[in-house]
Amino acid sequence: PAARLVLDAAYAVAPVPRRLFGSFVEHLGRCVYTGIYEPDHPSADTDGLRTDVLELTRELGPTVVRYPGGNFVSNYRWEDGIGPRDQRPTRLDLAWHSIETNQFGLHDFLSWTKKIGTEPMMAVNLGTRGLQEACDLIEYANHPGGTAWSDRRIANGAADPFGVKLWCLGNEMDGPWQVGHKTATEYGRLANETGKAMRLVDGDIELVACGSSNSSMPTFGAWESEVLEHCYDTVDYISLHAYYEEQGDDALSFLASAVNMDRFIESVVATADAVRARLGRKKRINLSFDEWNVWYQQRFSGDGPQPAGIPWEKHPRLIEDDYTVTDAVVVGTLLNSLLRHGDRVTVACQAQLVNVIGLLRSEPGGEAWKQTIAYPFEQVRRLARGQILQVVGASDLFDSAAYTDVPLVDATATYDTESGRAALFVANRSLTETARLEVDLRGIGGTSVLAATTLHAGAGQDRHATNAVQHDAVVPVRFDDHTVRDGRLTARLPALSWTVLELH
Ligand code: AHR
Repeated sequence: PAARLVLDAAYAVAPVPRRLFGSFVEHLGRCVYTGIYEPDHPSADTDGLRTDVLELTRELGPTVVRYPGGNFVSNYRWEDGIGPRDQRPTRLDLAWHSIETNQFGLHDFLSWTKKIGTEPMMAVNLGTRGLQEACDLIEYANHPGGTAWSDRRIANGAADPFGVKLWCLGNEMDGPWQVGHKTATEYGRLANETGKAMRLVDGDIELVACGSSNSSMPTFGAWESEVLEHCYDTVDYISLHAYYEEQGDDALSFLASAVNMDRFIESVVATADAVRARLGRKKRINLSFDEWNVWYQQRFSGDGPQPAGIPWEKHPRLIEDDYTVTDAVVVGTLLNSLLRHGDRVTVACQAQLVNVIGLLRSEPGGEAWKQTIAYPFEQVRRLARGQILQVVGASDLFDSAAYTDVPLVDATATYDTESGRAALFVANRSLTETARLEVDLRGIGGTSVLAATTLHAGAGQDRHATNAVQHDAVVPVRFDDHTVRDGRLTARLPALSWTVLELH
């Protein structure tokens, strides 16, 4: 297989949106408890935060982190998580059939975000609750003082307002599994009225309306359209969620998942712009892809009503997928899909940070490590700088059971005018063959490769290798199979690989 591409600084799509490299912390399984928070862990700091997980999270560098859910938020009382820990109530979490001790809450999350240097993105409960509780929360979090809720924040130790800017109006409200599931009319009206009132409390916030839970929902398209008809003037973003997995042993369709993501994004852009035209508005609604990842849902039976007899447990092990080489290549292509749509997708959150479909894993009382999928996430977050470039050119194509005309080589690129540096992120989707890549760099004045790595199945490994036992079994390794001559890069990409080149 081969691909011939051209990079040219004149073909800029948009500046790289910094919020594209977000993650997600939900009260689900062991994401919070024994994930980021474990006061008895040998590495815990005085706030009960695991410093080993803090350190790994700093390396990943998520630019924004969504909290506290997810399905969890739709039956959550945010007040349960504030004030002295020994006075916080224990509750049933209906979303995940778990016992919630509330030992971790709003202040704890916000001080965690400060420690890793990321922006919080909060969700309000529009399942079991509504407008009043959302206004109470934003008054508590963002109002300077002198009112009942803001003074309670100050009494709880935070003299300065938290200034949380980005707010989700509920979570997956189109899903029948959601506690407090709504029709598009019910939700659109509620989102609009809640959002308007929240803006009256704090005029500086940005609001995300729930789009569809995935593009296979029977209401997909109609939902976005009706919801936006109700709340177009009030919100800034519409959300998208998508999870991908290998069905049977159809690896080729799985490797083509980003084709589905591309179409999903383009359909939501078209729908939002159609509402814009219908309403005669100037403002554009951008996209918040605030849940995306590989998730082996076939292995998970916890969604939906719980059969009688399943015990209620505190932070049970739920959805702890171990990620492979193949998953890392797919995650790389999903990052590519987000990046090439960075003119409209300006917020995105990989789901989730630790243990639950996690970039990271951590054992109670034990070690923490990076999963295979953490590496493409960290690389693109670190190296995508300046402008996103439209990658012009062509790759050989393949057909899989689910998709036709899929590029064998999937590439995105960014170019930073100030430093003169470019980054090229490229996946070879062939399971068996090396791909020959040629890139014309003359339009970015490129003359050399500064550094390059590739992630693929190494010696003695196959595409199912993970980091579960040997935590550094699958990592990017130095990649030397490239040359630049007369402004043209040629490289030989290993079969089933994710390769990152820094160019100058
Ligand atoms: O990320 C796991 C779950 O997936 C979230 O709670 C929910 O929003 C989605 O269905």
